[in-house]
Amino acid sequence: MTRKILMHVGPVTIDYEVLAAGLRGDTGFTSQEFIYAMSYSMKFLRKLMGADQSYQPFIIPGGGTSAMESVTSLLRRGDKVLVVSNGVFGDRWKQIFNRYSVAVDVIKAEPGEYVKPDDVEKAVKEEKYTLVAMTHVETSTGVRAPIAEIAKRIRDKVELIAVDGVSSVGAESVKTKELSIDVYLTASQKAIGVPPGAGLLVLSERAVSRLSDESVAGYYLNLKNWIDVMRNLEDEKGSYFATLPVHLIFMLAKAFELIEKEGLENRIKRHERVAQGIRAGIESMGLDIVAKRPEAYSNTVTAVMVKKVNPAEVLKAVIPEGLELAPGVHPALAGKYFRIGHMGWVNQNDVITTIAVLERVLKRLGEPVNLGEGVRAVQLTFT
Ligand SMILES: Cc1ncc(COP(=O)(O)O)c(C=O)c1O
Repeated sequence: MTRKILMHVGPVTIDYEVLAAGLRGDTGFTSQEFIYAMSYSMKFLRKLMGADQSYQPFIIPGGGTSAMESVTSLLRRGDKVLVVSNGVFGDRWKQIFNRYSVAVDVIKAEPGEYVKPDDVEKAVKEEKYTLVAMTHVETSTGVRAPIAEIAKRIRDKVELIAVDGVSSVGAESVKTKELSIDVYLTASQKAIGVPPGAGLLVLSERAVSRLSDESVAGYYLNLKNWIDVMRNLEDEKGSYFATLPVHLIFMLAKAFELIEKEGLENRIKRHERVAQGIRAGIESMGLDIVAKRPEAYSNTVTAVMVKKVNPAEVLKAVIPEGLELAPGVHPALAGKYFRIGHMGWVNQNDVITTIAVLERVLKRLGEPVNLGEGVRAVQLTFT
């Protein structure tokens, strides 16, 4: 069997210490160890999100989508929502809200771009929205949106702001409190580096005050049903609404310990450096990046355009070479690109290997790449 490097957009490579933390055959949800792991994880989640004590953390079953859908707990029949969409996951907000009795408007960006702060500001001046929902890093294109700038422009014009940080939290600067954002959410399998299974979010006091029996939310993802459980567990008291992914929570707590040890700022810098290396390698090979300008580059995902080869063939051909990458999922770019995920426990050596494998494989498949130029550029970036 070939050893493999997983440069995916999630799940990502899991650190062995994190994996081992989940190996427990006899631990129930009432056990003191589980209650402690939840309490610690919720406290650390506030730090990870740049939130303070006024924010309520939630760790719920599912993943990014369950965390997104739980935002319906803040909405009532007839509320107006503005979705700011830079791609497939921005569109997911719209698809979710369309299932509920709320009105949804959408502003969309071209693939590789983000919706400009001016356009969001204009929209919220023209219409009264209860909620503006955005995506920090759009995983389908690797585009990072200027969340801080948008939040500052619209903060006093809308009641609630929700940010999907599924591909950003743990790898990009996240300033929930400073920007007065009401919901910041992520999923366990992304930059936190834990297996899939949990959605994680923090809610402002304003957002918590919206939880009510009048919300349009259903049952399982209704945060009103979860809030007491979260408060009890944080206070180290056993509590139940629906079963939490117990073993995953042990892995989550271990990952948070490792993130605390690394230091959040260091972790963000590591992601930034790794992303720089990937981009230097790709561009020096002669390939284009989907994100159209440097301000849109993300620390976690690089989407790569190919000129001649079929990207599906590239993904197949890198596997026996010990590398797994992610397919392109933006419908407007179908058949034209693939994605490199670089988040979690990723390091500089992973970047060298990724670029080296890509050079060999792309050359062999007939893409006009400059063999050796990519690896050289990565080495120069890291030296
Ligand atoms: C930005 C973003 N939002 C939401 C999701 C959905 O998360 P999940 O697949 O865990 O439900 C993803 C998944 O990749 C994502 O990248």
